[in-house]
Amino acid sequence: TVQHSSNVKTLPERFTSSGFILAAIGSAVGLGNMWKFPYITGKYGGAAFFLLFIGCLLFVGLPILLAEMAIGRGGRGNAVTSFQSLSKSKYWGAFGFLSVVGAFAILSFYAVVAGWTIHYAIESLTGGLYASSDFKSTFLTFAGGYLPVLWQAVTMVITGWVVAKGISGGIEKFNKVLIPGLAIILIILMVRALTLDNAAAGVEFFLKPDFSKLTAESALIALGHAFFSLSLGMGTMLTYGAYVERQQSLGKASLAIGGGDLLYALVAGLIIFPTAFSFGIEPSQGAGLVFMALPAAFAAMPLGQFFGFLFFILLAIAALTSAVSLLEVPVAYAMTKWNWNRKKAAFYTSVICFLIGVPSALSMGPLADFAPGGKTYFDWFDFVASNILLPIGGLLVTLFTGYAWKRAGEEAGLSGFWYNAWMFLLRYVAPLLVIAIFFYTVGIIKF
Ligand code: PFF
Repeated sequence: TVQHSSNVKTLPERFTSSGFILAAIGSAVGLGNMWKFPYITGKYGGAAFFLLFIGCLLFVGLPILLAEMAIGRGGRGNAVTSFQSLSKSKYWGAFGFLSVVGAFAILSFYAVVAGWTIHYAIESLTGGLYASSDFKSTFLTFAGGYLPVLWQAVTMVITGWVVAKGISGGIEKFNKVLIPGLAIILIILMVRALTLDNAAAGVEFFLKPDFSKLTAESALIALGHAFFSLSLGMGTMLTYGAYVERQQSLGKASLAIGGGDLLYALVAGLIIFPTAFSFGIEPSQGAGLVFMALPAAFAAMPLGQFFGFLFFILLAIAALTSAVSLLEVPVAYAMTKWNWNRKKAAFYTSVICFLIGVPSALSMGPLADFAPGGKTYFDWFDFVASNILLPIGGLLVTLFTGYAWKRAGEEAGLSGFWYNAWMFLLRYVAPLLVIAIFFYTVGIIKF
């Protein structure tokens, strides 16, 4: 062990308690909720999968979420120094550095997709999106050109600007307006979707329980998604945790964040499937669903330009509030490591993240042929960050809290039965499951 140097810089800013919950929900609710969750639920067993997902949240997601926030608040530092000051050893921090890299990597391509959604929101409002009814080629022409770089830059400017304004003046304010705004937009779109002809068929596809589809594979998919959806393993919840007041209950916060994440995902499904089924669209996931398939539905419905605008703004907001949490990870790192002020840190990290992401923005066009191992630059960043760095980050948090940090229970506010249950999950259940997800996503386990 190395002596803990008392000159480690801590992070002095603080969230209000509701501000923290909203910011953390803002991080959790993102593109994952909107375009991945509904699809995997429909595909892997509907309500049965939904129950499985709730189980994954409760038994693996929330314990790790609680641990991450506790590490941040206990250490009051970044994703590296918090581990160091709590364990008085520098080795844990070295792994924490992978989370900083991971957050950077995710943000670099996440901002590209966020940029697409802003472009689509504007195009829907002006009607330009509906000029042709071949939405697939509309998207491929747009994403295959240079314009995505501009929208990626816009995203990074907004993200950097919010983070530069600080915890209470930037991140908290941003989420306090946008997360309730997101709820209103979701409700409007849900009412619209559920009143379309044939909406019931969509709801049925989404939620009809099919327990025969619950396999080991669907379990791993549910687990992996619970992880990504709660923004775990990338140091985001840890870094936000560093700004939480001592008296706030982290246990209650975990429940609120998990519940919020679940609710937004559920409503997203109640928008996407009724809309798709009503217009005879084959449900899929990801970019194909939202940029190529759903515009056909907006084109066909009354006031579709407006509803399309709301839908893409919804995606943009969900993505931006997640992007802000990702940028805060390297910003907190730079502020503590090099003593930079927040503005300087936000400026340089945004610029670097933008530059790293430019090839991702061009991956569907000018750089499409640069694809070593069959993956484009964009795909590689996604693959390495989501499937390798994220599980390593999650494993680090569980092992650190389960085995190395003796006072974790105190910081998390748990004792007796709840502490023992938490420790059992962190020591034995979560690490094994995280390793299993890892083996599955990198292809070592196959079904
Ligand atoms: N939770 C976000 C989503 O569901 O889209 C994505 C994300 C944000 C993952 C922040 C990881 C992270 F650190």
